Amino acid sequence: MSDHLIIFDTTLRDGEQSPGASMTREEKLRIAKQLERLRVDVIEAGFPASSNGDFESVRAIAAAVRDSVVCGLARASEKDIARCAEAIGPARAGRIHTFIASSPIHMQMKLRMAPDDVLAQAVKAVGWARRYTDDVEFSPEDAGRSEPDFLCRLLEAVIAAGATTVNIPDTVGYTMPWQFGGLIRTLRERVPNADKAVWSVHCHNDLGVAVANSLAAVMNGARQVECTVNGLGERAGNASLEEIVMAVRTRKDVFPCASRIDTAQIVAASKLVSSITGFPVQPNKAIVGANAFAHESGIHQDGVLKHRETYEIMRAEDVGWNANKLSLGKLSGRNAFKTRLAELGIELASDDALNVAFAKFKELADKKGQVFDEDLQALVSEEAVTPEREHYRLLTLRVVSETGEIPQARIAMAVGGSELHAEASGDGPVDAAFRAIERIAQANAKMLLFSVNAITTGTDAQGEVTVRLEREGRVVNGNGADTDIIVASAKAYLNALNKLHSGQEKLNPQLAA
Ligand code: KIV
Ligand code: ZN
Repeated sequence: MSDHLIIFDTTLRDGEQSPGASMTREEKLRIAKQLERLRVDVIEAGFPASSNGDFESVRAIAAAVRDSVVCGLARASEKDIARCAEAIGPARAGRIHTFIASSPIHMQMKLRMAPDDVLAQAVKAVGWARRYTDDVEFSPEDAGRSEPDFLCRLLEAVIAAGATTVNIPDTVGYTMPWQFGGLIRTLRERVPNADKAVWSVHCHNDLGVAVANSLAAVMNGARQVECTVNGLGERAGNASLEEIVMAVRTRKDVFPCASRIDTAQIVAASKLVSSITGFPVQPNKAIVGANAFAHESGIHQDGVLKHRETYEIMRAEDVGWNANKLSLGKLSGRNAFKTRLAELGIELASDDALNVAFAKFKELADKKGQVFDEDLQALVSEEAVTPEREHYRLLTLRVVSETGEIPQARIAMAVGGSELHAEASGDGPVDAAFRAIERIAQANAKMLLFSVNAITTGTDAQGEVTVRLEREGRVVNGNGADTDIIVASAKAYLNALNKLHSGQEKLNPQLAA
């Protein structure tokens, strides 16, 4: 059996199904490039038949990524599979991942199909997918609650039809680790052609055991794990990529395989996903939480100072902590700026976009002096660097806030070609600024999320704000960063309004299956 553990990242597909985590094509492209730097084996880039936006994103990622396989999801229908094939067409290596539900409850209540018809449809789907590519993955959805006998028949049939990877999803996060490990073992033992496919697992975290289930599966022969950065995903999320990768690496004494992930890129990937989705990482989250390597108690600190391994099983720098090198300063030129962005995997779409980003960088360097990699990431995450999309632009903002007084904001904004002014009061300075913006924009959008994070440490750090807006069922995330968090908030709000305005929003993706 292979000693290579394939890491299949589904942040851009299952992760995006997390309510409020929808991303624009540009944002997905940036994450895909970071996943490639992380050396993920397979990137599931989206579900092309679910919307034109998803189709375009998968196609753009297929064209941009060279070192990872680019995969698209498709229901077991000829139309979905053809659309998926078209989307992954530009990929150097492309995969079609097709699925149909196999549990009694899903077959009876959702599909209203008999098991034999599900099996026949699955076999046909794999056949259709094989017309386009030799790399075909099949998933029996809700396998965790499916009958093992039926799963064996189904998996044998799809492998015979040409599936090269069979993926066992615990779709509702119901299974316990010893059961899930046992299921993988049983299937591999009982499916006669089991050795003709790679066995994969896809675990959800409803009971908090997605990573444990995935690792139990690896111990029982799974050689692909499907996971997401920060464990992003539907409901309680998917198995977290960083936890699986670091468990297998740290405990190489017990795991019979290893991934090819460049672990030093993990923290950068985590921060990028968090900043784009606006989902902060909890401080005590394993591997990527701000406190994951912090020692507070005196006994622990003393131990670590004397001998690091007394309390540390991994090195922070191995996952990319402490890597926030001073990258540029106010004397850095356009070329150095462009080169550093390229090193961070950031490619701006045009010279105009680069000029706008460079001007913002200079402004920031003047204010802060030191500009870190995280600052650069935040700077380009404001889509405002694409000037043609900036329908609303902040010109000036004055906010007065005093103990015992009602905060007041006065704003000047460029809207289309004209300059408009408004004043408003609010419960707090941010509220006042948002009300002033709304007086001008009259967007009537509902705010679903407002979150503020410090990008780096120190009181001169930039605050990064995410604002999530919803209008008529459409959801957008706006980002803004500034050393002044009221300004960062206004920028984030305008960034979200620009996305609503330019139609970059997308319907919150739902699996229609
Ligand atoms: O959770 C699930 O079952 C899925 C499948 C489409 C693999 O996401
Ligand atoms: Zn899933």
